[in-house]
Amino acid sequence: MKFSHEWIEKNPWLLIALVTLVVSVGGAVEIIPLFFQKSTTEPVAGLKPYSALRLTGRDIYVREGCYVCHSQMIRPFRAETERYGHYSVAGEFVYDRPFQWGSKRTGPDLARVGGRYSDEWHRTHLNNPRDVVPESNMPNYPWLAKTRLKPEDVVPKMRALKRMGDPYTEQEIAAAPAELADKTEEDALVAYLQGLGTQIKTRN
Ligand code: HEC
Repeated sequence: MKFSHEWIEKNPWLLIALVTLVVSVGGAVEIIPLFFQKSTTEPVAGLKPYSALRLTGRDIYVREGCYVCHSQMIRPFRAETERYGHYSVAGEFVYDRPFQWGSKRTGPDLARVGGRYSDEWHRTHLNNPRDVVPESNMPNYPWLAKTRLKPEDVVPKMRALKRMGDPYTEQEIAAAPAELADKTEEDALVAYLQGLGTQIKTRN
């Protein structure tokens, strides 16, 4: 029997097996080196794991589905860097599990929103975006300011991240609940937003 291309294409199981082989080898060659490359695994200078408050804010960001409308990934194109600042680099996300890159932008990218507005602006905006941006179609999140955090909840999260390789010390973990005492969900979310993308100097 002739081992021709036509013959492969007429044997679905053989075709499936060969396609799987090609895709696996191709994928492995592209993906595996990324686990070992410095540019993708080393944190950018000054990047620290999330503080207890910011880590909690990040989970609220995920819980509220902010990622449904906001990406956190500035592409290396002029139109993006002029608007948002320096494009995103892999080393900024080593402590993000899971990362919030996304691709859906109903609202603006938030990768470098840290420091762009005051805390007060964020509080007003989260309560009712139309108070600061009249044409906004972002939903209101009024309950965030009224809901207190449960400080103990952050301890197992930090422990889990430590096991994954985040360099938290036992002292930091022990001190974490005190950092969250009397704080609201809004405090945590604003702290999270205010730190986004601030490791790389972006504004001219
Ligand atoms: C339904 C889509 C939608 C959701 C969900 C949403 N947003 Fe927005 N967001 C927008 C839009 C549209 C804008 C632009 C208008 C404005 O500033 O309000 C915006 C603007 C922002 C801005 C200002 C960005 C800038 O550079 O000016 C921040 C910060 C923000 N959103 C945070 C959040 C957070 C935090 C959440 C989750 C609690 C969230 N958004 C959920 C649509 C959304």
